[in-house]
Amino acid sequence: MKTRILVVDDELSMREFISILLEREGYEVLTAADATTALERLAASAIDLVISDVQMPGLNGLELLARIRESSPETAVLLITAYSTAEQAVEAMKLGAYDYLAKPFKVEEIKVLVHNALEKRDLKRENVMLREKAKVCAGFGNLIGTSPRMRELFALLSKVADSASTVLILGESGTGKELAARAVHDNSPRKTKPFVAVNCGAIPETLIESELFGHAKGAFTGAVGERAGLFEQAQGGTLFLDEIGELPLAMQTRLLRVLQEREVRRVGGSATKKVDVRVLAASNRDLAEQVKEGSFREDLYYRINVVQVTMPPLRERIEDIPLLIEHLATKHGLVAAGSGIITSEALKCLMNYLFPGNVRELGNIVERSLVLSRDKITLESLPAHVKGSAKRFDLHSPVAIPDEGIALEPALEQLEKQYLLKALEKSSGVKKKAAELLGMSFRSFRYKLAKYELANESDES
Ligand SMILES: Nc1ncnc2c1ncn2[C@@H]1O[C@H](COP(=O)(O)OP(=O)(O)OP(=O)(O)O)[C@@H](O)[C@H]1O
Ligand SMILES: [Mg+2]
Repeated sequence: MKTRILVVDDELSMREFISILLEREGYEVLTAADATTALERLAASAIDLVISDVQMPGLNGLELLARIRESSPETAVLLITAYSTAEQAVEAMKLGAYDYLAKPFKVEEIKVLVHNALEKRDLKRENVMLREKAKVCAGFGNLIGTSPRMRELFALLSKVADSASTVLILGESGTGKELAARAVHDNSPRKTKPFVAVNCGAIPETLIESELFGHAKGAFTGAVGERAGLFEQAQGGTLFLDEIGELPLAMQTRLLRVLQEREVRRVGGSATKKVDVRVLAASNRDLAEQVKEGSFREDLYYRINVVQVTMPPLRERIEDIPLLIEHLATKHGLVAAGSGIITSEALKCLMNYLFPGNVRELGNIVERSLVLSRDKITLESLPAHVKGSAKRFDLHSPVAIPDEGIALEPALEQLEKQYLLKALEKSSGVKKKAAELLGMSFRSFRYKLAKYELANESDES
């Protein structure tokens, strides 16, 4: 398609002059004698660039520029005026004009400006597209990550979002279960309907029933008026039952019935009401284990466990840490301009840390560090237990192979590293002794330390 330019000027001779000039350059040119006509043309067809006079009867060029920025932000604007003043130029730039041309101008001048404005606009458009694309690849809803584990998760979440299935989201604390639930809703056909979240562990036992199912007037002491429960509030949308493992057994029975019959009866009420609600549930406890223990109903477990999604802990996807740090820092509005917000030593330390609190904990660390050190996360700004974390590997964790398998080499290296650190800890940092503890020569011990970047150059003990 030809690049389309709209020329706006109240003077016919000027419109004609610019039109002829630009048509000769191969552009398609439309004209308008005033701003109102210009806006009509803009609404009617896609226009790449507007060249407008500033002084015109009716809306002037600056006002037109402001309107264009609002209605068609993709269109570039060049302003022309006979009375060039510094203030007007500044205002035009602030409003988003690409450039400012003072009459009288040379033919060459306008050609160059038009060319530059269009080139800049293309660049800007390309950037926006790249950014959009990057966003899609790096996350799902507000969940961020590019690791294979997270990519798989995003693919699964987007698949289940389309369906109406009940989803059980499992995962350690702070792994993003709530974000996942929200992302599923926001990407589902129910996205324009309510998303209602309830933390089953946070409501006193005596109130859960009326909270979930509502109550009739006078149903119990304190029930002054009648009230719709969360199921009714989520009508047409999604109800997120967070920490479902905390639900008392009696409530589990009640919930199961509602899920089966798809209707609710308010506490103390007699009428039942059909509810069309998609249920998402989450737990950081092992629900299957709870079933075995008898603290979670098996039939309810099967009812909600239609699709199971497990959020991977942060320590199993450390490659996401840099991206998350950037994201979390921006979220706290704490990023200073310029490159890198974390020193390489600090990053290395974080990537060695086990993050029992997962992304939530990382968020807290990032916030704290940026407040302490202002604009850069340094090793010194990290909490002491994180700094000391390299020594805190858990040697007693049983060997486990997840369903998708593991890579043995890196796993063995990880184990080796843990033994090296443990030996150093036991020998209070005396490397000769540590090497003895592991039955290896001092030389190879030192070699291994260097390999895992555990060596401290200044210290040659
Ligand atoms: N993948 C992620 N990308 C960006 N932010 C994340 C991600 N995972 C978690 N977070 C952030 O970490 C915090 C904890 O997330 P969320 O509340 O969803 O975790 P949770 O699994 O529900 O934890 P809990 O079991 O403790 O309730 C939130 O501030 C959330 O925004
Ligand atoms: Mg949660």
